[in-house]
Amino acid sequence: MYCACSNRYHPFMLSYQHSYHAGNPADLHKHLALAGLLALLTRKARGISYLETHAGRGLYDLSAPESLKTREAAEGIQALDLPDCPLKTAIEAVRRRFGSSAYPGSPLIAQTLLREQDRLHLMELHPAEYGALRKTLRRETTAVHKRDGYEGVLSLSPPKPRKGLVLVDPSYEVKTEYEQVADFTHKLMAKWPEATVMIWYPILSAGRHEDLLAGLKLKFLRHEVSFELKDGEGMTGSGLALVNAPYGSDEILKRALSLGQPILHG
Ligand SMILES: C[S@@+](CC[C@H](N)C(=O)[O-])C[C@H]1O[C@@H](n2cnc3c(N)ncnc32)[C@H](O)[C@@H]1O
Repeated sequence: MYCACSNRYHPFMLSYQHSYHAGNPADLHKHLALAGLLALLTRKARGISYLETHAGRGLYDLSAPESLKTREAAEGIQALDLPDCPLKTAIEAVRRRFGSSAYPGSPLIAQTLLREQDRLHLMELHPAEYGALRKTLRRETTAVHKRDGYEGVLSLSPPKPRKGLVLVDPSYEVKTEYEQVADFTHKLMAKWPEATVMIWYPILSAGRHEDLLAGLKLKFLRHEVSFELKDGEGMTGSGLALVNAPYGSDEILKRALSLGQPILHG
């Protein structure tokens, strides 16, 4: 398999490294929506569970060679003067702790915005990414698992507390991943019917995300944005499917788009 970001052929899976893409327009879309949703779900004092199938390393350095090589963050978060919002709160907190070029991945955004009554379970299979994630995240509320994200989340479901959100954010390196996400969502709903599930997908000319969405066979909110990315490997936009969307999600998704302008277009 060829990976354009690292200019290498990889003989095995797990070649994807999010460090090349952290803070790009797709991350911006996903992270604005995620931070907004977490703020919505934590309005009441009752704790929530937050699970991720594909966590990544949790913390990125936008001045690192990987980021400078693709310049995707320069076309995303670094090109935006982000107004006050939950994502900005998380980024500022992370930069106070790790320095001005730090950018949080979804696990660190969640840990920064969640409270002591909330619980996080994060799956990451790549040994180096898993090691970095374990090192970065505080342990009090968070369990980091080195295991397959689909299997891990299903085996932990339903978690306690039962109210909660699952982020499904694979790299879609393999075509079958689109079907796998739909199949996983069905299995998850059978075990944890009240879970809110946020699925991220890339929009590419092949249009494979349509198979994923058709395969869901469930009611869900669909939110898509487009953007220009000089070398985005054919990605012209980013999509989110929200299953069991809590009341107020529509507004959160609309706000994600307006906060992300002019990088993100509706
Ligand atoms: C798109 S990145 C995650 C980015 C992260 N959610 C964020 O927004 O900051 C996908 C991650 O999934 C990991 N991964 C790939 N296959 C996996 C699997 N079957 N189970 C768990 N993690 C996996 C990769 O190593 C990579 O770190």
